[in-house]
Amino acid sequence: MRIDVLTLFPDMFRAVFGVSIYQRAMDNGLVQINLHNIRDYTHDRHHTVDDTPYGGGPGMVMKPEPIFEAVEAVKAQSEASSDVPVILLTPQGRLFDQKIAGELSQYPHLIIICGHYEGVDERVAEHMATDRLSIGDYVLTGGELPAMVVIDAVVRLVPGVLGSSESPVSESHMDGLLEYPQYTRPSDFRGWMVPDILLSGDHARIARWRQEQSLRRTLERRPDLINKAKLSPEDRKILAQLASSGAK
Ligand code: ADE
Repeated sequence: MRIDVLTLFPDMFRAVFGVSIYQRAMDNGLVQINLHNIRDYTHDRHHTVDDTPYGGGPGMVMKPEPIFEAVEAVKAQSEASSDVPVILLTPQGRLFDQKIAGELSQYPHLIIICGHYEGVDERVAEHMATDRLSIGDYVLTGGELPAMVVIDAVVRLVPGVLGSSESPVSESHMDGLLEYPQYTRPSDFRGWMVPDILLSGDHARIARWRQEQSLRRTLERRPDLINKAKLSPEDRKILAQLASSGAK
């Protein structure tokens, strides 16, 4: 998978993408992340990337020309140019989640635009971006951290990026539920014991316990997820038991 990131602050990405999982994925040729400074696509002496908003108001707005030129330059090098998602990170986008991460991980190429200042000229969202994503209902100073969040969630789903021991088959949000609690040695830490069942070696009972814990946690902590989750008939039975035993 190839990811091109358009940003005014490429250095922000270098520390994150320098860590081992990314380095390994890039060395193995599974992922290629290219950083582009939007400022390099300006033509004036001052390398102007922003301007005051039409109609007045505070702050500055990112100009459309350097962003369009940067995307066009990247697309010109792409093998799949007509079908490349061009994603604008903005608090006005649809809410990013695990499902979207899974969908994006199927593409061979993504282009990601990070906005800054008070906003980005609307023509970028309307005529260049094919998708707008928000990572949550709060406003950050720019799209860089959100872009890193999206890239991290997507890249780890690309086959081969995680070793088999780190495989994402069973973890929070994969089936729409929160993950069950995990423990490692020691079994007694300051008097807090690992649940006996996990030491029992009875894999069928452990699997059932984990599924029940997953459902219980989701019900308690994120009841909003239960209705959207993929539930088996067995899950529904466990939920009914939890409800009758007085769990929320
Ligand atoms: N830019 C600023 N805040 C953002 C958010 N919450 N999600 C995506 N992009 C953003």
